[in-house]
Amino acid sequence: MDILVCGGAGYIGSHMAQWLAEHDHRVTVLDNLSTGHREAVRWGELVEADLLDPAALERAFAGRRYDAVMHFCARSLVGESVRQPYDYYANNVAGTLNLLEAMRRHGVERLVFSSTAAVFGNPVADLIDESHPKVPINPYGASKLMVERILADAAHAHGLRSVALRYFNAAGALPEHGIGEAHACETHLIPNVLRAALGTGPALQVFGDDYPTPDGTCVRDYVHVQDLARAHALALDYLDTHPGTHAFNLGNGRGFSVREVIATASAVAGTSIPFERAARRPGDPATLVASSRRAREEMGWHPQWTELAPIVESAWRWHREPRY
Ligand code: UFG
Repeated sequence: MDILVCGGAGYIGSHMAQWLAEHDHRVTVLDNLSTGHREAVRWGELVEADLLDPAALERAFAGRRYDAVMHFCARSLVGESVRQPYDYYANNVAGTLNLLEAMRRHGVERLVFSSTAAVFGNPVADLIDESHPKVPINPYGASKLMVERILADAAHAHGLRSVALRYFNAAGALPEHGIGEAHACETHLIPNVLRAALGTGPALQVFGDDYPTPDGTCVRDYVHVQDLARAHALALDYLDTHPGTHAFNLGNGRGFSVREVIATASAVAGTSIPFERAARRPGDPATLVASSRRAREEMGWHPQWTELAPIVESAWRWHREPRY
Protein backbone atom coordinates (compact mmCIF):
# COMPACT_ATOMS: atom_id res chain seq x y z
CA MET A 1 0.00 0.00 0.00
CA ASP A 2 0.93 3.63 -0.40
CA ILE A 3 0.91 5.19 3.05
CA LEU A 4 1.39 8.75 4.25
CA VAL A 5 3.02 8.76 7.67
CA CYS A 6 2.37 12.17 9.24
CA GLY A 7 4.94 12.77 11.95
CA GLY A 8 7.18 10.06 10.52
CA ALA A 9 10.33 11.90 11.61
CA GLY A 10 9.34 11.53 15.25
CA TYR A 11 9.85 8.75 17.75
CA ILE A 12 6.88 6.47 17.10
CA GLY A 13 6.34 7.60 13.50
CA SER A 14 9.89 6.65 12.47
CA HIS A 15 9.41 3.14 13.89
CA MET A 16 6.17 2.95 11.91
CA ALA A 17 7.97 3.91 8.70
CA GLN A 18 10.58 1.20 9.33
CA TRP A 19 7.89 -1.44 9.86
CA LEU A 20 5.97 -0.43 6.74
CA ALA A 21 9.07 -0.42 4.54
CA GLU A 22 10.12 -3.83 5.89
CA HIS A 23 6.66 -5.14 4.97
CA ASP A 24 6.82 -3.79 1.41
CA HIS A 25 4.58 -0.76 1.74
CA ARG A 26 5.47 2.52 0.10
CA VAL A 27 6.06 5.23 2.69
CA THR A 28 5.91 8.99 2.40
CA VAL A 29 6.76 10.96 5.54
CA LEU A 30 5.10 14.31 6.18
CA ASP A 31 6.71 16.27 9.02
CA ASN A 32 7.42 19.88 9.92
CA LEU A 33 10.59 18.78 11.75
CA SER A 34 9.63 20.90 14.77
CA THR A 35 10.39 18.00 17.10
CA GLY A 36 11.19 15.25 14.57
CA HIS A 37 14.59 14.54 13.05
CA ARG A 38 15.57 14.56 9.40
CA GLU A 39 17.99 11.70 10.20
CA ALA A 40 15.07 9.57 11.40
CA VAL A 41 13.50 9.61 7.93
CA ARG A 42 15.31 6.60 6.54
CA TRP A 43 12.42 5.01 4.66
CA GLY A 44 10.57 6.90 1.97
CA GLU A 45 10.50 10.48 0.83
CA LEU A 46 10.28 13.37 3.33
CA VAL A 47 7.70 16.06 2.56
CA GLU A 48 8.29 19.02 4.84
CA ALA A 49 4.90 20.48 5.66
CA ASP A 50 3.01 21.77 8.66
CA LEU A 51 -0.53 20.62 9.34
CA LEU A 52 -1.39 24.22 10.18
CA ASP A 53 -0.53 25.22 6.60
CA PRO A 54 -3.42 24.01 4.38
CA ALA A 55 -1.64 25.11 1.18
CA ALA A 56 1.40 22.99 2.05
CA LEU A 57 -0.90 20.07 2.86
CA GLU A 58 -2.65 20.49 -0.47
CA ARG A 59 0.73 20.29 -2.22
CA ALA A 60 1.59 17.15 -0.21
CA PHE A 61 -1.58 15.39 -1.43
CA ALA A 62 -1.68 16.73 -4.98
CA GLY A 63 -0.89 14.19 -7.65
CA ARG A 64 -0.62 11.33 -5.13
CA ARG A 65 -2.97 8.51 -4.37
CA TYR A 66 -2.46 7.41 -0.77
CA ASP A 67 -4.32 4.32 0.39
CA ALA A 68 -4.20 5.44 4.01
CA VAL A 69 -2.82 8.00 6.42
CA MET A 70 -1.15 7.24 9.74
CA HIS A 71 -1.19 10.33 11.91
CA PHE A 72 1.51 10.75 14.57
CA CYS A 73 1.94 14.55 14.43
CA ALA A 74 1.21 16.08 17.81
CA ARG A 75 2.46 18.08 20.69
CA SER A 76 2.53 15.44 23.43
CA LEU A 77 3.85 16.73 26.75
CA VAL A 78 1.29 16.84 29.52
CA GLY A 79 2.97 19.59 31.58
CA GLU A 80 3.61 21.78 28.54
CA SER A 81 -0.01 21.39 27.51
CA VAL A 82 -1.14 22.84 30.82
CA ARG A 83 1.11 25.87 30.30
CA GLN A 84 0.44 26.33 26.58
CA PRO A 85 -3.07 25.00 25.90
CA TYR A 86 -3.60 27.04 22.70
CA ASP A 87 -0.57 25.35 21.09
CA TYR A 88 -2.04 21.97 21.91
CA TYR A 89 -5.51 22.68 20.59
CA ALA A 90 -4.07 24.37 17.48
CA ASN A 91 -1.58 21.63 16.61
CA ASN A 92 -3.48 18.59 17.73
CA VAL A 93 -7.06 19.57 16.89
CA ALA A 94 -6.95 22.30 14.22
CA GLY A 95 -3.97 20.62 12.52
CA THR A 96 -5.86 17.32 12.41
CA LEU A 97 -8.92 19.04 10.94
CA ASN A 98 -6.75 20.38 8.13
CA LEU A 99 -5.39 16.89 7.54
CA LEU A 100 -8.89 15.37 7.51
CA GLU A 101 -10.06 17.98 5.06
CA ALA A 102 -7.10 17.29 2.73
CA MET A 103 -7.87 13.56 2.98
CA ARG A 104 -11.53 14.18 2.14
CA ARG A 105 -10.66 16.35 -0.84
CA HIS A 106 -8.27 13.73 -2.17
CA GLY A 107 -10.47 10.70 -1.50
CA VAL A 108 -8.30 9.08 1.19
CA GLU A 109 -10.71 7.15 3.38
CA ARG A 110 -8.55 5.38 5.96
CA LEU A 111 -6.81 6.81 8.99
CA VAL A 112 -4.94 5.35 11.96
CA PHE A 113 -4.66 7.99 14.66
CA SER A 114 -2.25 8.20 17.61
CA SER A 115 -4.30 8.66 20.71
CA THR A 116 -3.26 8.29 24.32
CA ALA A 117 -4.02 6.94 27.77
CA ALA A 118 -4.34 10.60 28.75
CA VAL A 119 -7.91 10.61 27.32
CA PHE A 120 -9.01 8.70 30.43
CA GLY A 121 -7.83 11.15 33.10
CA ASN A 122 -7.60 9.73 36.61
CA PRO A 123 -8.18 5.98 36.48
CA VAL A 124 -11.10 4.51 38.37
CA ALA A 125 -10.13 0.90 37.62
CA ASP A 126 -6.94 -1.16 37.98
CA LEU A 127 -6.98 -2.16 34.33
CA ILE A 128 -8.16 0.51 31.90
CA ASP A 129 -10.25 -0.84 29.06
CA GLU A 130 -12.01 1.08 26.29
CA SER A 131 -15.19 1.54 28.34
CA HIS A 132 -13.36 3.42 31.11
CA PRO A 133 -14.75 6.97 31.62
CA LYS A 134 -12.97 9.53 29.47
CA VAL A 135 -12.40 12.62 31.59
CA PRO A 136 -9.04 14.06 30.56
CA ILE A 137 -7.32 16.18 33.19
CA ASN A 138 -5.01 18.18 30.92
CA PRO A 139 -5.21 19.90 27.51
CA TYR A 140 -3.08 17.21 25.87
CA GLY A 141 -5.56 14.45 26.74
CA ALA A 142 -8.49 16.74 25.95
CA SER A 143 -7.07 17.56 22.51
CA LYS A 144 -6.72 13.86 21.65
CA LEU A 145 -10.23 13.07 22.89
CA MET A 146 -11.61 15.91 20.76
CA VAL A 147 -10.02 14.35 17.70
CA GLU A 148 -11.52 10.97 18.58
CA ARG A 149 -14.95 12.65 18.61
CA ILE A 150 -14.25 14.41 15.32
CA LEU A 151 -13.36 11.03 13.79
CA ALA A 152 -16.77 9.65 14.80
CA ASP A 153 -18.45 12.65 13.12
CA ALA A 154 -16.25 12.20 10.05
CA ALA A 155 -17.36 8.58 9.79
CA HIS A 156 -21.02 9.65 9.69
CA ALA A 157 -20.59 12.66 7.43
CA HIS A 158 -17.89 11.50 5.03
CA GLY A 159 -17.54 7.75 5.46
CA LEU A 160 -14.04 8.05 6.94
CA ARG A 161 -12.78 4.75 8.34
CA SER A 162 -10.54 5.26 11.35
CA VAL A 163 -8.91 3.59 14.29
CA ALA A 164 -7.63 5.56 17.30
CA LEU A 165 -4.89 3.73 19.16
CA ARG A 166 -4.48 4.81 22.76
CA TYR A 167 -0.89 4.17 23.73
CA PHE A 168 0.09 3.76 27.32
CA ASN A 169 3.85 4.35 27.84
CA ALA A 170 5.70 4.01 24.54
CA ALA A 171 9.26 2.82 25.16
CA GLY A 172 12.27 1.13 23.57
CA ALA A 173 14.02 1.63 20.25
CA LEU A 174 15.37 -0.15 17.20
CA PRO A 175 19.05 0.89 17.29
CA GLU A 176 19.89 -1.77 14.69
CA HIS A 177 17.80 0.31 12.27
CA GLY A 178 19.29 3.60 13.47
CA ILE A 179 16.18 4.93 15.20
CA GLY A 180 15.23 5.66 18.78
CA GLU A 181 13.82 8.19 21.19
CA ALA A 182 15.39 11.66 21.02
CA HIS A 183 13.52 14.61 22.43
CA ALA A 184 15.19 18.02 22.70
CA CYS A 185 13.69 18.41 26.14
CA GLU A 186 13.42 14.91 27.59
CA THR A 187 10.74 14.34 30.21
CA HIS A 188 10.16 10.59 29.91
CA LEU A 189 11.31 8.18 32.56
CA ILE A 190 13.29 5.53 30.66
CA PRO A 191 15.44 7.96 28.62
CA ASN A 192 16.08 10.02 31.76
CA VAL A 193 17.10 6.93 33.74
CA LEU A 194 19.45 5.78 30.96
CA ARG A 195 20.97 9.20 30.47
CA ALA A 196 21.60 9.41 34.22
CA ALA A 197 23.33 6.00 34.00
CA LEU A 198 25.49 7.20 31.10
CA GLY A 199 26.23 10.56 32.71
CA THR A 200 24.84 12.32 29.62
CA GLY A 201 21.84 13.69 31.52
CA PRO A 202 21.20 15.15 34.95
CA ALA A 203 20.78 13.02 38.07
CA LEU A 204 17.45 11.26 38.03
CA GLN A 205 14.63 12.73 40.03
CA VAL A 206 11.86 10.42 41.20
CA PHE A 207 8.68 12.44 41.15
CA GLY A 208 6.86 11.34 44.28
CA ASP A 209 7.32 8.27 46.47
CA ASP A 210 4.16 8.60 48.53
CA TYR A 211 1.64 7.31 45.99
CA PRO A 212 -0.76 4.51 46.96
CA THR A 213 1.32 1.90 45.09
CA PRO A 214 3.41 -1.02 46.45
CA ASP A 215 6.64 1.02 46.69
CA GLY A 216 5.12 4.50 46.69
CA THR A 217 6.27 5.43 43.15
CA CYS A 218 4.02 5.69 40.08
CA VAL A 219 3.17 2.57 38.12
CA ARG A 220 3.06 2.57 34.31
CA ASP A 221 2.52 0.09 31.49
CA TYR A 222 5.51 0.20 29.11
CA VAL A 223 4.96 -0.96 25.54
CA HIS A 224 7.64 -1.24 22.86
CA VAL A 225 7.38 1.10 19.86
CA GLN A 226 7.74 -1.82 17.46
CA ASP A 227 4.66 -3.43 19.01
CA LEU A 228 2.85 -0.11 18.59
CA ALA A 229 3.87 -0.03 14.92
CA ARG A 230 2.58 -3.58 14.48
CA ALA A 231 -0.75 -2.53 16.00
CA HIS A 232 -1.08 0.26 13.42
CA ALA A 233 -0.61 -2.22 10.59
CA LEU A 234 -3.26 -4.52 12.12
CA ALA A 235 -5.56 -1.51 12.50
CA LEU A 236 -5.33 -0.82 8.78
CA ASP A 237 -6.26 -4.46 8.05
CA TYR A 238 -9.12 -4.15 10.54
CA LEU A 239 -10.57 -1.24 8.57
CA ASP A 240 -10.94 -3.48 5.53
CA THR A 241 -13.85 -5.24 7.22
CA HIS A 242 -14.88 -2.66 9.83
CA PRO A 243 -16.08 0.68 8.49
CA GLY A 244 -16.69 3.54 10.92
CA THR A 245 -14.55 4.64 13.83
CA HIS A 246 -12.87 2.44 16.42
CA ALA A 247 -10.55 2.78 19.41
CA PHE A 248 -8.18 0.34 21.10
CA ASN A 249 -6.01 0.60 24.20
CA LEU A 250 -2.43 -0.55 23.73
CA GLY A 251 -0.26 -1.72 26.59
CA ASN A 252 1.25 -4.91 27.96
CA GLY A 253 -1.25 -5.10 30.80
CA ARG A 254 1.48 -5.10 33.46
CA GLY A 255 2.52 -2.15 35.54
CA PHE A 256 6.04 -1.31 36.69
CA SER A 257 6.88 1.29 39.31
CA VAL A 258 9.46 4.01 38.79
CA ARG A 259 11.72 2.16 41.25
CA GLU A 260 11.31 -1.09 39.30
CA VAL A 261 12.26 0.70 36.09
CA ILE A 262 15.38 2.09 37.79
CA ALA A 263 16.31 -1.38 39.09
CA THR A 264 15.80 -2.95 35.65
CA ALA A 265 17.85 -0.21 33.98
CA SER A 266 20.64 -0.69 36.58
CA ALA A 267 20.77 -4.40 35.75
CA VAL A 268 20.77 -3.71 31.99
CA ALA A 269 23.45 -1.02 32.26
CA GLY A 270 25.49 -2.96 34.82
CA THR A 271 25.80 0.08 37.05
CA SER A 272 23.90 1.56 39.94
CA ILE A 273 21.81 4.58 38.99
CA PRO A 274 21.66 7.25 41.64
CA PHE A 275 18.39 9.07 42.08
CA GLU A 276 16.88 11.66 44.35
CA ARG A 277 13.36 12.03 45.64
CA ALA A 278 11.47 15.00 44.27
CA ALA A 279 7.98 16.39 44.62
CA ARG A 280 5.11 14.79 42.74
CA ARG A 281 4.74 16.00 39.15
CA PRO A 282 1.36 17.70 38.72
CA GLY A 283 -1.06 15.66 36.62
CA ASP A 284 0.55 12.25 37.22
CA PRO A 285 -1.98 9.53 38.09
CA ALA A 286 -0.62 6.93 40.55
CA THR A 287 -1.21 3.96 38.27
CA LEU A 288 -1.94 3.56 34.55
CA VAL A 289 -2.20 0.03 33.21
CA ALA A 290 -4.01 -0.99 30.03
CA SER A 291 -6.38 -3.77 29.32
CA SER A 292 -5.59 -4.55 25.67
CA ARG A 293 -7.98 -7.46 25.50
CA ARG A 294 -10.00 -5.79 22.80
CA ALA A 295 -6.94 -5.22 20.60
CA ARG A 296 -5.94 -8.86 21.10
CA GLU A 297 -9.36 -10.29 20.41
CA GLU A 298 -10.50 -8.02 17.59
CA MET A 299 -7.26 -7.11 15.78
CA GLY A 300 -5.14 -10.12 16.79
CA TRP A 301 -2.50 -7.85 18.37
CA HIS A 302 -0.01 -9.83 20.44
CA PRO A 303 2.89 -7.73 21.71
CA GLN A 304 6.26 -9.42 21.21
CA TRP A 305 8.11 -7.27 23.75
CA THR A 306 6.29 -8.44 26.87
CA GLU A 307 9.15 -8.12 29.38
CA LEU A 308 10.50 -4.84 30.69
CA ALA A 309 14.21 -5.76 30.56
CA PRO A 310 14.45 -6.23 26.75
CA ILE A 311 12.44 -3.04 26.22
CA VAL A 312 14.88 -1.10 28.42
CA GLU A 313 17.84 -2.91 26.84
CA SER A 314 16.81 -1.77 23.35
CA ALA A 315 16.58 1.81 24.64
CA TRP A 316 19.96 1.41 26.37
CA ARG A 317 21.67 0.37 23.13
CA TRP A 318 20.16 3.42 21.43
CA HIS A 319 21.12 5.87 24.16
CA ARG A 320 24.70 4.60 24.24
CA GLU A 321 25.10 5.52 20.59
CA PRO A 322 22.26 7.80 19.44
CA ARG A 323 22.36 8.76 15.76
CA TYR A 324 20.60 12.08 16.31
N1 UFG B 1 9.19 10.17 36.13
C1 UFG B 1 10.14 10.39 37.10
N2 UFG B 1 11.28 11.05 36.74
C2 UFG B 1 11.52 11.48 35.48
C3 UFG B 1 10.55 11.24 34.48
C4 UFG B 1 9.38 10.58 34.86
O1 UFG B 1 9.96 10.03 38.27
O2 UFG B 1 12.58 12.08 35.22
C5 UFG B 1 7.98 9.43 36.48
C6 UFG B 1 6.70 10.22 36.21
O3 UFG B 1 6.39 11.05 37.31
C7 UFG B 1 5.71 9.09 35.98
C8 UFG B 1 6.55 7.97 35.36
O4 UFG B 1 7.89 8.29 35.68
O5 UFG B 1 5.23 8.65 37.20
C9 UFG B 1 6.41 7.88 33.86
O6 UFG B 1 6.59 9.19 33.33
P1 UFG B 1 6.76 9.49 31.77
O7 UFG B 1 6.97 10.96 31.64
O8 UFG B 1 7.80 8.58 31.19
O9 UFG B 1 5.38 9.06 31.14
P2 UFG B 1 3.88 9.49 31.55
O10 UFG B 1 3.30 8.32 32.28
O11 UFG B 1 3.83 10.81 32.20
O12 UFG B 1 3.24 9.69 30.12
C10 UFG B 1 2.37 8.80 29.59
C11 UFG B 1 2.34 9.00 28.09
C12 UFG B 1 1.61 10.28 27.74
C13 UFG B 1 0.30 10.34 28.46
C14 UFG B 1 0.49 10.21 29.94
C15 UFG B 1 -0.85 10.24 30.67
O13 UFG B 1 3.67 9.07 27.58
O14 UFG B 1 1.36 10.29 26.36
O15 UFG B 1 1.11 8.97 30.20
O16 UFG B 1 -0.67 10.48 32.03
F1 UFG B 1 -0.26 11.55 28.24
